[in-house]
Amino acid sequence: MALDDLYREVILDHYTHPRNKGSLDGADIKVDGANPLCGDELSIYVKLAAGLISDVRFVGRGCSISQASASMMTEQIKGKTLPQARALVGRFKAMMHGEDVPEEELGDLMALQGVRKFPVRIKCATLAWVALDQGAEEFEGARGKVESTATSEVE
Ligand code: FES
Repeated sequence: MALDDLYREVILDHYTHPRNKGSLDGADIKVDGANPLCGDELSIYVKLAAGLISDVRFVGRGCSISQASASMMTEQIKGKTLPQARALVGRFKAMMHGEDVPEEELGDLMALQGVRKFPVRIKCATLAWVALDQGAEEFEGARGKVESTATSEVE
């Protein structure tokens, strides 16, 4: 099977059988993202336990690329710390913007590299990732504030 066909099958499989689709009660992070080019929206839910992403789900609507990419993302970040997940966001975005990222760092996500040929669809592929990154940044920022308040109360 040609690589392009294999990649197409991976995307189709995630689109027709999305992993981790649905909302999550008691999520530590809930963040909404929208693709400004088409108006499609999705929400990401993340639950943390002992510093690791113990569960992650997504809901929303959009094209096959956005849905497949969100589904792949949930599989890839489960079990990672937030900084590790954010580092993967960086690598994925770099790959989508044409940088060379070692294949072993991206796994199945390489299936989305064909999207680079269609610049207007890149935002479809990065929709879930940008939202996750924003949610993680807000969460870390809020936690930092709580920690610095706690420290200054102790002082
Ligand atoms: Fe809307 Fe792809 S066309 S997310």
